[in-house]
Amino acid sequence: MSMEHMAQPIPELGEFIIANKDKLRNTGQEAEMNRLLTAIKLAAKVVNREINKAGLADILGAAGNQNVQGEEQQKLDVFANHKFIQALVNREVVCGICTEEDDDFIEVNKDTHFVMLMDPLDGSSNIDVNVSVGTIFSIYQRLSPVGSPVERRDFLQPGRNQIAAGYVLYGSSTMLVITTGDGVHGFTLDPSLGTFFLSHRNMRYPAKARIYSVNEGNYRAFPEGIKQFLAECHDDEAGPFSLRYIGSLVSDFHRNLLQGGIYMYPPTKKDKKGKLRLLYEANPMAYLAEQAGGRATDGFDRILDIQPSELHQRVPLMIGSAKLVDRVDQLMRQHSPDCRLHANQLAPAN
Ligand code: AHG
Ligand code: MN
Ligand code: MN
Repeated sequence: MSMEHMAQPIPELGEFIIANKDKLRNTGQEAEMNRLLTAIKLAAKVVNREINKAGLADILGAAGNQNVQGEEQQKLDVFANHKFIQALVNREVVCGICTEEDDDFIEVNKDTHFVMLMDPLDGSSNIDVNVSVGTIFSIYQRLSPVGSPVERRDFLQPGRNQIAAGYVLYGSSTMLVITTGDGVHGFTLDPSLGTFFLSHRNMRYPAKARIYSVNEGNYRAFPEGIKQFLAECHDDEAGPFSLRYIGSLVSDFHRNLLQGGIYMYPPTKKDKKGKLRLLYEANPMAYLAEQAGGRATDGFDRILDIQPSELHQRVPLMIGSAKLVDRVDQLMRQHSPDCRLHANQLAPAN
């Protein structure tokens, strides 16, 4: 047999997850999780197709209504939200779904184990200018019994309870990056086959970490601890750090994961809780960051330990290479202790 035929096959997403050790091993729920991931893959491909032709179709621009947080929805936000919900509802692979775009959670199949939370289109202000956007998802086992309708508490779990989390990045190529608790793995879509193939096994933050990503236009409104950290980025003894900010968490996070760096959405004087949403953005990205050897905090406390109190709760986010996140936390504790939000809202150890 020629060498060509003996090469190791490159696994696609479904094959890889089945073969992988994860939190679901031997629970009997592996098949259900696999059906759920299949639904996510399908919706991602449909959204990817629409995004790719966004410049052609009459799909750009505002949809003319606002989401529950008073933000203008873009047409593709609505489309992506609809496609992901449709894929999960039609296949009845979850007991409930909650998305950034909907006021409340949606009940699906009460006889299943998982709830999914998602930001169907992240970075949506970038669509009109042909810059990368993403989808973020987060999966938990329900707390309420299987066979009963899904409950609010099933969605309001601390992030450390996540069974799986990931994102789809609609970039120069389309990637699905996922963790099921056994490292972070990246799959790249082969558009000709419509298949996500393993391209980045066991992604880890590199030791070098010299990128910072923050909307520095808000500088004056930042707490002193953040200003001090930015001063250190500007005046590092090895030369200034590079500022890279796309304004799409998925893209900024992805670059920093590959190249080493920190993404920050700090509190400001006006928005003391920052901008990002704990359940749809901070928690899934925090789980991925930790699984890749990084960290994620609100400037003081570990994101994954925060006990959520509402579905659309916002939270400051410092995420990326561990040493940079540690340094921000140090400076926040030293200079801005009044900004600590969650000292009394951490979930007790379980
Ligand atoms: P979304 O498009 O889902 O509302 O999220 C946008 C978020 C995040 O992806 C991005 O990093 C941040 O908002 C950008 O905010 P600023 O424009 O305030 O920098
Ligand atoms: Mn978002
Ligand atoms: Mn969004």
